[in-house]
Amino acid sequence: MRILYVVGTRPNFVKTAPVIGALRERLPEGRHALVHTGQHYDRMMSAVFLEELGVPAPDHMLEVGSGSHAEQTARVMERLEPVLAEERPDLVVVPGDVNSTMAAAITAAKMQLPVAHIESGLRSFDRTMPEELNRIATDHLSEYLFIHSPEANDNLHAEGIPAERVHLVGNTMIDTLVALEGRFRAASAAATLGVEPGAYVLVTLHRPALVDGPLLPKTIAQLAALAREMPVVFPVHPRTRARMEVVEAEHPGLLLSEPLGYIDFLSLLADAGAVLTDSGGIQEETTFLGIPCFTLRANTERPITVTAGTNTLLGLDPTAISTIPTALSQRPAMPPEPPPLWDGHASERIADIVASSGRSG
Ligand code: UD1
Repeated sequence: MRILYVVGTRPNFVKTAPVIGALRERLPEGRHALVHTGQHYDRMMSAVFLEELGVPAPDHMLEVGSGSHAEQTARVMERLEPVLAEERPDLVVVPGDVNSTMAAAITAAKMQLPVAHIESGLRSFDRTMPEELNRIATDHLSEYLFIHSPEANDNLHAEGIPAERVHLVGNTMIDTLVALEGRFRAASAAATLGVEPGAYVLVTLHRPALVDGPLLPKTIAQLAALAREMPVVFPVHPRTRARMEVVEAEHPGLLLSEPLGYIDFLSLLADAGAVLTDSGGIQEETTFLGIPCFTLRANTERPITVTAGTNTLLGLDPTAISTIPTALSQRPAMPPEPPPLWDGHASERIADIVASSGRSG
């Protein structure tokens, strides 16, 4: 069997690495070709992740870089088509909801190549988010929809996707976290930064709705106020860094850093007193680790992190940051109880399904 994996951004690497590992183990005679679109390209956004995750060097680098949505999507499609023609895979595996994901799914489906989507079925019901459009298009073009929470099943059913394509396998991002646990627990990134475990807030912000418009200066001002109560550690995404420079945001008291590698980031996450984010994956990682998470968004495509996890939706409202210290002081101590199948074995379930379909086909 010939399998081709298409990745492009930080979270893609994390979600796909264990699936490549499990499928290589299950199908050692198969061809496992990795395509890196180059949507993320800085060393700290890309190469560091592949190294830490033990992913072999990509077989094809598309080097699409940054651009408008149409430019980035079009470049992936244009550069992936000849790779697919050369590799003729039996299956094209795509993770998540970024532009690279959707572009790869469209290109493969048009060439009559079956697509498998990791992290399928999530919906924010907010079509102003580029990721929502990417998810919908990718799901409707996929033969295998691998989901990690029951509501994904409901979402796909409501859109008329046949049930036999949908497989509840669990969370491959959590597979990676489990596999790296020994390393990130030993990393002591908090000590390196001079902050005390359990006593700081870790912040990540990168969504256009928050950082590309007038909310960014208000958010930074609120973070500076929070930093007067507890240390605020903020590794800054390049999109956010660029916008902060444009608006000349003052950030007194914030511990800013460049983007971190995944081991250091997970170390800081696991030791945080709380996390403030607009990321999707971090809502899941904090749920698994039992760390309180405050999400600065109007909605989430991951409601299970609110109903069964540690996540609180603050709304797209920077002033809500001021409620975090009180919310933390009133929060009862709870042992983490991850959702079903967030157990470190999702990728093996995917490999079982793919390998058995390969035999029958
Ligand atoms: C993308 C995804 C988003 C995901 C995020 C994870 C889409 C539409 N968005 O957002 O869903 O949550 O990745 O991080 O696919 N840049 C660099 N160096 C890099 C990469 C980006 O400097 O290595 C800068 C560039 O100025 C670029 C900007 O960041 O224009 C945005 O990058 P892009 O990949 O378009 O979107 P993200 O905000 O990273």
